Amino acid sequence: MASEVAEPGADELRAMRSLAERLARAAGAIQRERYETSFEIRTKSASIDLVTEVDHACEALIVDGIRERRPDDAILAEEGGGSDHPSAHWRWIIDPLDGTTNFAHGYPRFCVSIGLERQGERAIGVVYDPLLDELYCAVRGQGATRNGDPIGVSGESELERALVATGFAYDVRRSAEDNVSHFIAFVKRARAIRRDGSAALDLCYVACGRFDAYWELKLHPWDVAAGLLIVEEAGGRTSDLSGGPANHSGFECVASNGRVHEAVLEILGR
Ligand code: IPD
Ligand code: CA
Ligand code: CA
Repeated sequence: MASEVAEPGADELRAMRSLAERLARAAGAIQRERYETSFEIRTKSASIDLVTEVDHACEALIVDGIRERRPDDAILAEEGGGSDHPSAHWRWIIDPLDGTTNFAHGYPRFCVSIGLERQGERAIGVVYDPLLDELYCAVRGQGATRNGDPIGVSGESELERALVATGFAYDVRRSAEDNVSHFIAFVKRARAIRRDGSAALDLCYVACGRFDAYWELKLHPWDVAAGLLIVEEAGGRTSDLSGGPANHSGFECVASNGRVHEAVLEILGR
């Protein structure tokens, strides 16, 4: 007989949220300490896809911290240190350092991203920017916050006045689906466009109204697991390129304040 798992009580959710926040802050402290120091840098899927020893140190800290307190939970971690089983009741999805290229170059925009799914549904999202000391958090149904204060998306309804962000996948040099024609279309149409190198922070910036919209292709679950929930709980809209539910895989990611969403989808070729 299938065993039933009880709904999480408020206490369990609170405990998971504070564990995620504590681990994000602790990993962020490593990034702050090691920022603009010397560290080992290697390449992964392409010569422009970097990983540093700081990515690995942050992942080890987070994964060990989860295993100590939640030994039965699944963990999908970008650098492979987790133990994933997608059918697990609780699944942590971790990008230990989102914005590695920025970090490697001393460009001050990177973060820790920790998402938590319950039975395949996004339940908690935490993103921490260690240099600005900004901690974004969302719990499904409970809204989104930055450093404990509620946040919400912008009120802009015209793409012509919108600040839009995007990014490019590491196969940009060899793939025809390189996002470049979309980029050009937004340069011509939006007020301005940014490519700032951290998908998780881009999503949080939509959530708090700094950006009006963001899209990117070929992301991974760890890039979006926390940020999508933070946008949704801040009152924004997330979707794939057709306007359907945003993929957990990150393969097609569109997020906005809702008001400019249809205009964004049109440019993306819906
Ligand atoms: C990358 C960043 C970047 C995005 C890339 C991601 P990483 O993550 O989020 O903004 O454009 O697609 O892979 O490699 O720094 O964790
Ligand atoms: Ca990432
Ligand atoms: Ca990363």
